[in-house]
Amino acid sequence: MTEHLKMDKVQPRMLDETGQGAITVPMDRPEGRLKVAGQATYAAEYKAENMAYGVLVRATITKGQVTSIDEGSVTSLPGVLGVFATGKMPRSPAQGTAGAAPIQPEGRVDYFGQPIAVIVAESFEQARHAASNLKIAYEAETAETDPETASEIDVPDGQLLDQGDIEAAMSDAAFTVDATYTTPPHNSAAMEPHASLAEWHGDNLVLHGAYQMLKFNREELADSLGIDPEKVRIHSPYVGGGFGGKLGISQEAIAAAVAARELKRPVRVVMARQQVFEMTMRRTESRQRVRLAADKDGKITGLAHEDRVSNLPEEGFSEPTAVASHFLYGGENRFFRQEVARIHRTTAGSVRAPGEAIGQLALECAMDELAEKTGIDPVQLRIQNIPEKHPESGLPFSSNSLAQCLTDGAERFGWSERKGVGKRREGEWFVGMGVASAARTNILMESRARVTLNPDGTALVETDMTDIGTGTYAILGQIAAEMLGLPTEKVTVELGDTNLPGASGSGGSWGAASAGSSVFLGAKAIRSKIAKSLGCAPEELRLKDGIATGANNRRPLAELMSGPISEEGHIEPGTTMEEFAQSGFGAHFCEVGVNAVTGEVRVRRMLAVFAAGRILNEKTARSQGHGGMIWGIGSALTEAIEHDPRDGRIVNHDFAEYHMPVHLDVPDLDVMFVEELDDHSNPLQSKGIGELGLSGAGAAVANAIYNACGVRVRDYPATPDKIF
Ligand code: MOS
Repeated sequence: MTEHLKMDKVQPRMLDETGQGAITVPMDRPEGRLKVAGQATYAAEYKAENMAYGVLVRATITKGQVTSIDEGSVTSLPGVLGVFATGKMPRSPAQGTAGAAPIQPEGRVDYFGQPIAVIVAESFEQARHAASNLKIAYEAETAETDPETASEIDVPDGQLLDQGDIEAAMSDAAFTVDATYTTPPHNSAAMEPHASLAEWHGDNLVLHGAYQMLKFNREELADSLGIDPEKVRIHSPYVGGGFGGKLGISQEAIAAAVAARELKRPVRVVMARQQVFEMTMRRTESRQRVRLAADKDGKITGLAHEDRVSNLPEEGFSEPTAVASHFLYGGENRFFRQEVARIHRTTAGSVRAPGEAIGQLALECAMDELAEKTGIDPVQLRIQNIPEKHPESGLPFSSNSLAQCLTDGAERFGWSERKGVGKRREGEWFVGMGVASAARTNILMESRARVTLNPDGTALVETDMTDIGTGTYAILGQIAAEMLGLPTEKVTVELGDTNLPGASGSGGSWGAASAGSSVFLGAKAIRSKIAKSLGCAPEELRLKDGIATGANNRRPLAELMSGPISEEGHIEPGTTMEEFAQSGFGAHFCEVGVNAVTGEVRVRRMLAVFAAGRILNEKTARSQGHGGMIWGIGSALTEAIEHDPRDGRIVNHDFAEYHMPVHLDVPDLDVMFVEELDDHSNPLQSKGIGELGLSGAGAAVANAIYNACGVRVRDYPATPDKIF
């Protein structure tokens, strides 16, 4: 039986009533020990009998045609089994939920580093050696790689809005900001590089991979191979970080599958770090112009956010840079417009908080500039401009605790101690504080899970949902434990296998809410059966520590069950996504020191306050906050892909030169949650939290730099050369 729910109306607050105490508590990850002991098997660690090793070969031109691949240049090398997948490789990974990655016309090259073949050998070293010797001839064409000078520019309809009269609002305003910000490209840079082992059993493919969205990835892979999705099984029980980079099937999986099919033996392909940078996805660079108009009291009357991003020709994705600018602050005159420059750099796609992550670097900095001009405290300015309703659609918010995040955060951080610009000096350090709001749209996705309760008081949760380091194993177990009245250690969670019921996948910060709701529904159906056996109404039933109580009966579960009870939960988004504007909100506070001699910026402390509905596990939620804040520090200070202006190749394609914050760059990070339950989001009353931690975080750092020393960096990252 399937318990199905379309999220069309407020759901009863069932999770509050069971009383098991499994939810919200900061439970450790049940798989944590395996991970730190090296016993959790990641994709590149699977072995198969008679396995061969593939190494991807990249294009070394920016645009043009492969005219020949001289297989003879490598086939005589030791161990080489062949050159495969030429002409069968998509130019880019799929984007996760948007269908398959189109296969390139044979031999077309659209960016430097694009994979064009895979060489397979008996050992990895032999394959790598052969890959470096493969002779490829090209007919190169001239390519545009600079988004600023690109001749082909698209203006996507979906990013256009012209409400009221922004020009009039700007000219009538008592205070205005008109500033342009630039942000560099980023890479998802998950710790685990992309890796796949493909094994064919007749026409059936088993892929051990590292993916975020298995239900969709299976379709994508099948589509790329021209086979029925039923014949594809993807197995990703552990994923070493995703951040968008593993949303869609990427080329190593297709290469492994094609080569394994032709060789009739298992093939493993692992990307080198440099290949992850060059071949998977980048976050687009951006140029963003933000205009704010405010009256004499600092009330925003006009808001415009225009941006230029880039992607390859014909790619459907464009970074929704201004996504949160549509609803964070009010103002009746609003203008939005995006330009997508068509250039030949690595494909742009979703990287952690696509849209919000870089949009709020601009908007929240502009708000700081408005605060400076109006003389209103930046916390106060934000609070007084929070709209009652969505300022464009007029829809009510499902919940919006931004004001409380700002107020509670200011209190806890000691915001009242903040001094004027350049007024706090400690030795050779200027010290300053900054604030920024955070918002990340909340989404519910269709999801299924099977929940089984056994008479011995254990339970099993099964779904093809993934845990990309976020805590899915813990959270889904907690939800089942809470609903079934069991201690959490009695619940086992099986994830990451397309043979299990299809879940939402991990993306867009919707995973915990969507997969969690399906577990909730499966467990709810089990509760109905138990209630029936006990002779009480489902709402009367109390389950705690394996004991069922209701209708004056009290019985151990085992006595009520003749065997295991297995039920499937199925959640679907419904009208509440159309009737309410849904977003998580938060506030970031940061204190920096800026060295007066070198311009070096040191983050001294940071606090984030998040309002994301019900917090399902305080520990994993906090950890998401930490990760986002660290990414914020990186976005503000160090992180940037550099493209060679001559051919668009990525220059800094490894962790030696792509600078992410390390331990010494990160101070103690404080995270607080506001109490909030969102009745319209999903039956758990939760909202997405993963990407909220990054949204706005970098702007708080940049605003602190300004408060410290009076330097307004509008060109991220704020490296020392841009300070003094
Ligand atoms: Mo996220 S960029 O949707 O993995």
